[in-house]
Amino acid sequence: MIVQMIADRHPLIVKNIVWQDEYETESFAQMLAQQPAMGSALIELQGDLGAGKTTFVRHLLGALGVEGRIKSPTYAVVEPYTLAVSGLNIWHFDFYRFNDPREWEEAGFRDIFASPGLKLVEWPEKAGAYLPQTDLLIHIEVLANESRSIILTAHTDTGVELLT
Ligand SMILES: Nc1ncnc2c1ncn2[C@@H]1O[C@H](COP(=O)(O)OP(=O)(O)OP(=O)(O)O)[C@@H](O)[C@H]1O
Ligand SMILES: [Mg+2]
Repeated sequence: MIVQMIADRHPLIVKNIVWQDEYETESFAQMLAQQPAMGSALIELQGDLGAGKTTFVRHLLGALGVEGRIKSPTYAVVEPYTLAVSGLNIWHFDFYRFNDPREWEEAGFRDIFASPGLKLVEWPEKAGAYLPQTDLLIHIEVLANESRSIILTAHTDTGVELLT
């Protein structure tokens, strides 16, 4: 069991890139949006307050075809979307304010994470053990000149597909 857990958490690919500005964030989001593996992926976003997690998600959802304003789910915890063309379901989570594990059951998060679609998660560390294995972890760090240092870690075959 422990061996399995370690195997699950073993990163398959680690890549370090830099987003010099928001245009580079947008380019990366556009590249990712074209990957077929996005149709059923769990992507976690880590980084301090203001690192640029929601900004990245906005570019990603825009590139996927979500129209209109994309709200930060800081208060609602989750914002759902369905793409008009493909019918793809997308959930954008922000667990920053998550502190009651009962919410996990009552709000139906268990069902969401078990269903097909794309799940994007800000502050995954706040949901801890509730979350299933992530496919791709995107860690964002702000550098002195406002550019972003990004560490991309693929934990599954889906995550590897997203990066190749
Ligand atoms: N690649 C980038 N280059 C320069 N500025 C950026 C970049 N990405 C985001 N920003 C700026 O950083 C600020 C904060 O971004 P954002 O709200 O996306 O952070 P966040 O990580 O979601 O924070 P929180 O943890 O509060 O949800 C925004 O003002 C945005 O314009
Ligand atoms: Mg945010």
